[in-house]
Amino acid sequence: MRVSVFGLGYVGCVSAACLAGKGHEVIGVDVNQVKVDLVNDGKAPVVEERIGELIAEVVGSGALRATRDVREAIMESEMSLICVGTPSEPNGSLCTTYLERVTEEIGAALAERGGRHTVVFRSTMLPGTCTNLLIPILEKYVGGTAGVDFGVAVNPEFLREGTSVRDFFDPPKTVVGELDPASGDAVLALYEGLPGEVFRVPVATAEAIKYADNAFHGLKIGFANELGAVCQALGVDSHQVMDVFLADRKLNISPAYLRPGFAFGGSCLPKDLRSLVHAARRADVSVPILSHVLPSNAAHLERAVELVERAGKRRVGLFGLSFKPGTDDLRESPLVELAERLFGKGYDLKIHDAHVSLSRLLGANREYVETRLPHLAQLLADSVDEVLEHAEVCLVGTRDPAVLSALPHGGDPLLIDLIHLPDADVRRAEPGYMGLAW
Ligand SMILES: NC(=O)c1ccc[n+]([C@@H]2O[C@H](COP(=O)([O-])OP(=O)(O)OC[C@H]3O[C@@H](n4cnc5c(N)ncnc54)[C@H](O)[C@@H]3O)[C@@H](O)[C@H]2O)c1
Repeated sequence: MRVSVFGLGYVGCVSAACLAGKGHEVIGVDVNQVKVDLVNDGKAPVVEERIGELIAEVVGSGALRATRDVREAIMESEMSLICVGTPSEPNGSLCTTYLERVTEEIGAALAERGGRHTVVFRSTMLPGTCTNLLIPILEKYVGGTAGVDFGVAVNPEFLREGTSVRDFFDPPKTVVGELDPASGDAVLALYEGLPGEVFRVPVATAEAIKYADNAFHGLKIGFANELGAVCQALGVDSHQVMDVFLADRKLNISPAYLRPGFAFGGSCLPKDLRSLVHAARRADVSVPILSHVLPSNAAHLERAVELVERAGKRRVGLFGLSFKPGTDDLRESPLVELAERLFGKGYDLKIHDAHVSLSRLLGANREYVETRLPHLAQLLADSVDEVLEHAEVCLVGTRDPAVLSALPHGGDPLLIDLIHLPDADVRRAEPGYMGLAW
């Protein structure tokens, strides 16, 4: 394939050299003459393992050359990979100036070029940037329609500086956000033969994945370092702790707890986080991440209250009360907290939780419900129908099959899904459905 790569920084330079090494015909484009000259001399403009030898080789063979001339590059290629920088503005916002400029230049050149060309954004950019900012620029300059007259895709890159050449040939995954299938096919043809799972997703999903990855990586490092500092202060070998922590592939290094859902609670997580943070404070160890886990959880619960407020109804139903499905344990249940918040705000509330009703009958949780939550006890309904008949808006916090099968479609009552119901993807398109974080 004939490919132009815009921006010869870390990402562009490595992408250009590796694609040329894979047999594509590559033209690198940069506004910086020094970088262009370095590449044309067979030298790498960045310091990276193996990049020097690779650039010398592919420039020598004629597979890679560089230019400042956007028009020339576009005329001679079927695809543009955009790898310009997207730094932070002083206030933390994303700077899209370089992206906008290069997109304008490419659009103007494409207006003169016949035949299909696919514009692929590899720079990291916030969800919506491609659709709301860059595609309109391309359509304006080209005078055509994206997905029809030219292709558009978002192809975030997951190379790590230092090992990026190795990562290119053995990527953790390949993600293609495609405007139309032809654009996605063109991008995947570039990487044919490389290992790793391929994900074809909508454009905004591809943009968001990069942020999910980097936020999580930062969180992991911060978590490990904070835990290390607490362990050190308490005289514990932090590496030994993490060796055992990492060996748990069921709950720790696993997909467990990593899907958006409702707030956590129960008799362990809140209590243990509180005492760990307290121990850190006593030892004068600053743990901003650990000490903000409970506030983050409270903020998530608040989102549910806000959804009820936004619905603007007074008669509210709640399915589920125990701290997670399948138990009658009400201690530190976030659903109890939610019910109390709504009750306190004067909503006319009815609650159904089959486990809690049962334990009241058996006397197991009776004392807890009747002494600690007498105000909620009087709101408990024995049947699903009783709640549905009462409610104008219903919060669903349980996967109880009896509840799931009774939930109506169509908006009467309105549904607030706290747990990502099994049919959430279908319901999202229906009127009267609100997901807590999806
Ligand atoms: N560095 C990484 O490891 C890494 C990893 C993943 C994603 N990213 C993302 O990739 C993008 C590029 O990062 P980088 O580290 O390679 O940036 P960089 O700053 O090293 O390089 C950007 C290059 O773009 C050039 N440029 C600017 N405007 C241009 C234009 N109009 N035409 C042609 N070239 C132009 C600059 O001269 C520069 O050489 C960013 O969005 C970044 O967030 C970087």
